[in-house]
Amino acid sequence: MADAREFQDRLLSLGLARVSEAAALASAKLIGRGDEKAADQAAVNAMRDQLNLLDIKGVVVIGEGERDEAPMLYIGEEVGTGQGPAVDIALDPLEGTTLTAKDMPNALTVIAMAPRGSLLHAPDVYMEKLAIGPGYRTGVVTMAMSPSERVSALAAAKGVSTENITVCVLERPRHDEMIAEIRSTGASIRLITDGDVAGVMHCAEPDVTGIDMYMGSGGAPEGVLAAAALKCMGGQFFGKLLFRNDDERARARKAGITNFDRVYTRDDLVRGDVIFAATGVTDGSLLAGIKREPGYLTAETILMRSKTGSVRRMVYRNPIR
Ligand code: FBP
Repeated sequence: MADAREFQDRLLSLGLARVSEAAALASAKLIGRGDEKAADQAAVNAMRDQLNLLDIKGVVVIGEGERDEAPMLYIGEEVGTGQGPAVDIALDPLEGTTLTAKDMPNALTVIAMAPRGSLLHAPDVYMEKLAIGPGYRTGVVTMAMSPSERVSALAAAKGVSTENITVCVLERPRHDEMIAEIRSTGASIRLITDGDVAGVMHCAEPDVTGIDMYMGSGGAPEGVLAAAALKCMGGQFFGKLLFRNDDERARARKAGITNFDRVYTRDDLVRGDVIFAATGVTDGSLLAGIKREPGYLTAETILMRSKTGSVRRMVYRNPIR
């Protein structure tokens, strides 16, 4: 029976890659067109159609929003054929809507699947995030450390000076102080305008991306997706929910969260084995974006399973009809 389950997982992982590919191909038509909403909607429609072909009893736990805000892929929506394993689905049909609308790098389509009950139902609030790649002892950097302490600790663990550490940060006024403190250590900063799932994933392959650490606040749902990616690629992730008002606390309570000060580790956010797929929409350091060639579109997808640590990169060529 274990073999049958394993075989099913493998097939489902390929199915998941098709889901993220379909979303990327659909949103590609909107690259550089200045219309975030249309790009997102195209990705949502395609992702939902493909997802509903998979033999799963799926429930969206990280999705487009609450049911009253999002007509499709809302939190709690049941997806799949209803035949097959009961799973949680976390998705962001277009991670980087503005990046896509402006044709800027690192827009992705993202989806993760794990056994039912194993993904944190993160409310749509901010999350303070900290991530590093694989190969470091647990806790070499922590949420309790200041940004400069984290840079020093990571540099010491890597055996380099702080000038040789690069930190990725979302460019936002709320991060100005943190950016100044990181710069005071001599470390360099890769500022990104959007897309912190990709930002965190960059830490897992520092030799390719040049990024050692990710810091700062962004969407909590994206935090769960980033944790899922790092669970497959290796690396540490810490997240703490941030609340700006009572409405956000109420959203968290509704999602079943009672401890508002908890620091979640990667494995608290993603408690079971997870399958993760992402497809590049615009070119990035980890994935190529959709390419239009005469008669064809090509899409690059990263497909990973935490159980085996397997990482596949697949290029899909699709004739334009
Ligand atoms: P969208 O694709 O939904 O536009 O999100 C992009 C993003 O940059 C996320 O990657 C990030 O977590 C979040 O927005 C940051 O939020 P804010 O723009 O409010 O700082």
